[in-house]
Formats: sequence, structure tokens, C-alpha cells
Amino acid sequence: MSKWLRIASKNQLQSGQPLLITVDGEDLALFRVGEEVFALDDLCSHAEASLSEGEQKGFCITCPQHGGQFDIRTGKAIHFPAISPVKRYPVRVEGDDILIER
Ligand code: FES
Repeated sequence: MSKWLRIASKNQLQSGQPLLITVDGEDLALFRVGEEVFALDDLCSHAEASLSEGEQKGFCITCPQHGGQFDIRTGKAIHFPAISPVKRYPVRVEGDDILIER
């Protein structure tokens, strides 16, 4: 059964500046675009790199290692050499609380 877990405060997360959060030992990358918040696995699907250290432009995150790109809304790979998607987590914002579904 899934549950909603509070993982961060919205004021920790600046628009366009990814944030690394560790939840139950797993690293997640949080992204904010305006008032919208998105969560993906932090580990790039191509090799060992942290997506939260990449450059975010709008809904696109560029991996710092080889330049693969992902759509932060879906986790879908949109630019080579990234081919496989990264896991996306449903996010809910309640007031200042950011929750993900686990
Ligand atoms: S490790 Fe991310 S594109 Fe290669």
C-alpha cells in the first residue's frame, strides 16, 4: 500500500535549483518550476552521476557527467546518451510541505 511521506519544505527548494534529498536510504532529486515540484531518482540511468548536481532549465535536467537529459515531469530520457528513464515519484504540495508517494 502506498503512503505519502513528507520529505522537505517548499522553502528549501528554489525554482531551477535541484535539491538532493535522502529518503529511507535512497537519494532523490527534487526540482521546482514556479509552484510545481517534481521528484526523480537522483542516480542517472546512464552511469554513476547525481542528477541533482546537473543543470536544470525549465522542465529539463542535464546530467553533469555526459550531458544526457531528462524531462523532470516524467523521468523520460530526452537526450543521448541517456536512453532509459529514471524513476519518477508522484509529488503533492500541502502548504509548505512537499510529500512524495512511496
Ligand atoms: S551518467 Fe548521466 S548521461 Fe552519463
